[in-house]
Amino acid sequence: MKILIEEADLQERVDELAKKISKEYEGKTLYLLCILKGSVMFLADLAKKLDTDLHTEFHFVEASSYGESTESSGSVEVESSLSHDEFEGKDVLIVEDIIDTGRTLSKIKKDINSHNPASLKICTLLDKPERRVITDVEPEYIGFTIPDKFVIGYGLDYDQQYRNLPFIGILDPEDI
Ligand code: IMP
Ligand code: MG
Repeated sequence: MKILIEEADLQERVDELAKKISKEYEGKTLYLLCILKGSVMFLADLAKKLDTDLHTEFHFVEASSYGESTESSGSVEVESSLSHDEFEGKDVLIVEDIIDTGRTLSKIKKDINSHNPASLKICTLLDKPERRVITDVEPEYIGFTIPDKFVIGYGLDYDQQYRNLPFIGILDPEDI
């Protein structure tokens, strides 16, 4: 495995994002919608670095499309215990680990938008723009733009492994 983003660089960038978000949502209640499972580490670090005066709520949905593969299956499953009227009038910020084809966020975004949030934005730690299939999901906040490589660590998995790593690594194709 090769390290792509060191732990210190991740933390520094998450801190910058948190400062920007704190400023832009000042005086509002920020409804953080974390896409499980990959985004848990990012959500936890980001939330701790937000301005302590900012009101926040944590919510979670689970999405999956990869299974035991490094290629998206193309069909996205979304599981949620949220009732849709929870989004009405809220300032929703989707917290995502990585945007690849864009299918996951396109589906989630469409769903939330149909329930009249006050605002809906996307914050992704990683963006792999070369792989985009769906173009209506451009994120407002991006941690790092990365090349078309399968990455792991800091919440991201390959077949449920490696989520615990504190850095982002590129998985050696021989380990797949
Ligand atoms: P999309 O629907 O193709 O944009 O895929 C988004 C989801 O696929 C992300 O939320 C990740 O969970 C997963 N994913 C995409 N690329 C990678 C990767 O390089 N490593 C691990 N998971 C990935
Ligand atoms: Mg994900």
